[in-house]
Amino acid sequence: MIWRSEAGKILQIEQGDITRVEADAIVNAANSHLAGGGGVDGAIHRAAGPEMRRELDAIQARIGTCPTGQAVATGAGLLPARFIFHTVGPVWSGGGRREAELLASCYRVCLAMAEERGLESIAFPAISTGVYGYPMRGGAEIAIGEIRRHLMEGAKSLGRASLVLFGEEALRIHEAVLRGGAV
Ligand code: APR
Repeated sequence: MIWRSEAGKILQIEQGDITRVEADAIVNAANSHLAGGGGVDGAIHRAAGPEMRRELDAIQARIGTCPTGQAVATGAGLLPARFIFHTVGPVWSGGGRREAELLASCYRVCLAMAEERGLESIAFPAISTGVYGYPMRGGAEIAIGEIRRHLMEGAKSLGRASLVLFGEEALRIHEAVLRGGAV
């Protein structure tokens, strides 16, 4: 499903494996230790290879941990992208610990990092909705809200953002949120 801003900027919602998507930047749902893990993080580490791991280790040695809601950038190793933005989503613990604000920050920070580098395209997974337990519907509302706002108001170089969903249920929920109807 595709949404277009008046200026022709595109938000695309698709089902797939984000390691196979071509985009200038691919976003990784990382952890604050930048240590790799399961889910998207594991898939990106396996597919990108050791060069990205070395870059991440060097960043980790310099900054220690990456705070929740923030992101760091590396090259993309063997992936068909120029950069990987490793962002740390919030762990869902009921909604009272600023989870929504922190998740919105992940999307905003990555969109800003893409603009700073003059990138034209970026692909996001559904940050925090796996191991970190963020409810899919709430996560979809934040992802779509933040990306659309950026494409309507703040986008300079970026012409296309994709949300790449792993499962059919995640796709269905994101499409319903984008249509603005009931899930
Ligand atoms: N492509 C696209 N989406 C994927 C892929 C993939 N290859 N693999 C998993 N997903 C989906 C999941 O189904 C989920 O909806 O990405 C979403 C995010 O799930 P996680 O990868 O578990 O990320 P998150 O919930 O943010 O948890 C982060 O998991 O692996 C660890 O190191 C990571 O500790 C961190 C935590």
